[in-house]
Amino acid sequence: MTGFEKAAAIAARKHSGPTVSMLTAYDYPTARLFDEAGIDALLVGDSLGMVVLGYPDTTHVTLDQMLHHVAAVARAKPRALVIGDLSIGTYPDPVTALANARKLVAAGAEAVKLEGGLRQADKVRAIVNAGIPVCGHLGMLPQRVLEEGGYKKKGKTPEQSAALLEGALALVDAGVFAIVLESVIPATAAWLTAQLPVPTIGIGCGDHTCDGEVAVATDLLGSYPWFVPPFAKPEANLAPQIRAAAAAYKARVAAAAAPERNPLSQDDAGKSQAAGIASSHEA
Ligand code: KIV
Repeated sequence: MTGFEKAAAIAARKHSGPTVSMLTAYDYPTARLFDEAGIDALLVGDSLGMVVLGYPDTTHVTLDQMLHHVAAVARAKPRALVIGDLSIGTYPDPVTALANARKLVAAGAEAVKLEGGLRQADKVRAIVNAGIPVCGHLGMLPQRVLEEGGYKKKGKTPEQSAALLEGALALVDAGVFAIVLESVIPATAAWLTAQLPVPTIGIGCGDHTCDGEVAVATDLLGSYPWFVPPFAKPEANLAPQIRAAAAAYKARVAAAAAPERNPLSQDDAGKSQAAGIASSHEA
């Protein structure tokens, strides 16, 4: 299936179901494992700025970093649709947006995602007209977290909800195949889902409010314990397992050190091993 066909198949799920499953992936093994589990879409999200690269938010992420991680995920040759995020500042106008979307596609993305509604419609249209599927992203926009002064819930008032719908309809008109809704209050997310002809993919929007769900991989796997969003629903708790495996390895390495450097290994076996090495040096 081409990326275009995969995106069209996801769009068709609006009416036929089942619910669309999307997970972020930033590297080859995770992409392979998620694909083997049957996930529909792998988002190489700019959340990698925080959970892979250690920045405080996504505003530090560059297009080169996105290209590096998109290429790693694409090397897994997933059956799932690979979506690459256009990072902050890479879509100021339609021409630049299309040029950078093409770079993501050259790196292996089959679709791209960008943040915002009305202001982005002409950029979305330019990318879609060039044959590249686009996923929208409305509600809380992480690339604007500094202007907004934090991660805030959206769609809390009738005015905010109407603005979200207006933005979403502009994105639909420009040709998006789906729209991520982030941190939109459940009633508004459900209302938008009912109004829109393309699937909504929710994160932090509550249960049963969208046509699909996206989760950040480290939230799902419990492998980034220093910040866990309140809406995260981990299915694993890898952080303690990783620490325990590293500690066990450290202990094993210490126990296996050369006997003369490790008083713990001055047992009979260690002594006879040391003697064997000494006699082979003498021979
Ligand atoms: O970058 C990302 O991971 C995202 C998701 C939060 C939807 O955009």
